Amino acid sequence: NTGDRVPALIIGSGYGGAVTALRLAQAGIDTHIVEMGRDWGTATSGVFTSTTSPDKRGFWLRDRTAQPVSHFMGVSIDKPIEKYVGILDCENMGGINVYQGRGVGGGSLVNGGMAVTPRRGYFEELLPSVDSNEMYNVFFPRANTGLGVNNIDPAWFESTEWYKFARTGRKTAERSGFKTVFVPNVYDMNYMKQEAAGQAPKSALAGEVIFGNHYGKKSLPKTYLAQAASTGKVTITTLHRVTKVVPSGAGYSVEMEQINEQGGVVATKTVTADKVFFAAGSVGTSKLLVAMKAQGHLPNLSGEVGQGWGNNGNVMVARANHLWDATGGKQSSIPTMGIDNWDDAGGPAFAEIAPFPAGADLFISLYLAITKNPERGQFQYNSSTGKVGLSWQASQNQPGINMAKRIFDKINSKEGTIYRTDMFGGYKVWGDGLTYHPLGGAILNKATDNYGRLHGHPGLYVMDGSLVPGNLGVNPFVTITALAERNIATIVASDMH
Ligand code: FDA
Repeated sequence: NTGDRVPALIIGSGYGGAVTALRLAQAGIDTHIVEMGRDWGTATSGVFTSTTSPDKRGFWLRDRTAQPVSHFMGVSIDKPIEKYVGILDCENMGGINVYQGRGVGGGSLVNGGMAVTPRRGYFEELLPSVDSNEMYNVFFPRANTGLGVNNIDPAWFESTEWYKFARTGRKTAERSGFKTVFVPNVYDMNYMKQEAAGQAPKSALAGEVIFGNHYGKKSLPKTYLAQAASTGKVTITTLHRVTKVVPSGAGYSVEMEQINEQGGVVATKTVTADKVFFAAGSVGTSKLLVAMKAQGHLPNLSGEVGQGWGNNGNVMVARANHLWDATGGKQSSIPTMGIDNWDDAGGPAFAEIAPFPAGADLFISLYLAITKNPERGQFQYNSSTGKVGLSWQASQNQPGINMAKRIFDKINSKEGTIYRTDMFGGYKVWGDGLTYHPLGGAILNKATDNYGRLHGHPGLYVMDGSLVPGNLGVNPFVTITALAERNIATIVASDMH
């Protein structure tokens, strides 16, 4: 409520926000999270919309769905919906659509759960100021434990019809000389076995993922946020969007808009906080910081704020297999395998073998590639609209396409198969206009000090994916979690008294 004063305010309840809340609360600090999405709860049925035919609950404030795989047989599968504070945001940032989770738990509500610790050599190259011994001995293990990361039973993987698509993806990759690896996940793999045996209600095996899982997935409301709530020291205010942070006395005044379920502003509130933690995600945090600097509210922020944004080299692509290389009519929505071509100096790429659970065998192999695309964008304030945009151009994804092509051209030529040209628009091979992995905008040790403290305004911190310099080579949430664990440990020890 307006006039309240809180010791610690966190903007956003995704990975960075959830870790921050838990560790502050455990240190005895009353902590307040402000989240613009709704609370989806931890109930087990009837909450989330269906994957194949999403209603308003699927999308954040849109009047039309925006499916990531947008076409089939060249025809758009999108349809009108009611505007609602739904779970998945397709945010258009000029040359790219950035997909993000909305609600208590952020991206953990909608993501594929792939829980990958990055290659140590590349991590050291990306963030040379971070002590990597400490990361790999303490903070990555701590993050993996906190998130509940587990692995698929390889024997079950080999035998179940639900991963035929992944085995076909592996077989065709290996025949072209590519290496494949199992990928850990936060989906409870024992639960999935029970689903397959008909002993538990289906979630992954019912195709649930990008609009929420009713069962099986250990999203943040079931892990970090549940632990944080059990301290009794954390409160979460939902359907409130932070719009302004300005210095006020020894702390900051934080302005926010309360919105209704159709996105309309119903109230504006201002509270004060001793410390403010930005955890609104790469795009959310960058937009706020760039606007606050440009509007003169936080004038001392570094010029590095808004710089170094990347899409983690994301590119999607689909191949048509021969009729004798079936992918199965039954597919788990949870990916567990990737093609690892990162050592290819001519174009490093790691491609997740993604499911395409359409209910019928379509012989389609779908992939989400993470490439070492070196292109970066920057967030810029537009003084005539008062909004922050991103400089990223569609053509900046061409290096990523070229890197992914080194894998899939080779597989197609070896197999005598072709790309599907009907899934990302008519006659379009590459899904290059979207990312699931926005990273950067407030890079660690550039826009902030080596622990996420923003330069120029003591008591302001960045705790989310904006700290990561645009690329990681693997799916990002384990790294975002581990960096937040590392930074908050130092902040609690040094700044919170
Ligand atoms: P995150 O985006 O999680 O949280 C930010 C929160 O802040 C959101 O809840 C948002 O609503 C809120 N917010 C934003 N602005 C605000 C404001 N002004 N006021 C109040 N609240 C505000 N990664 C991975 O490692 N493995 C995977 O398998 C996948 N798969 C995947 C699939 C899909 C469909 C998506 C969209 C994403 C993935 N990801 C993924 C990516 C992963 O989910 C992502 O990297 C993390 O969620 C980012 O964590 P952050 O803490 O940075 O922000």
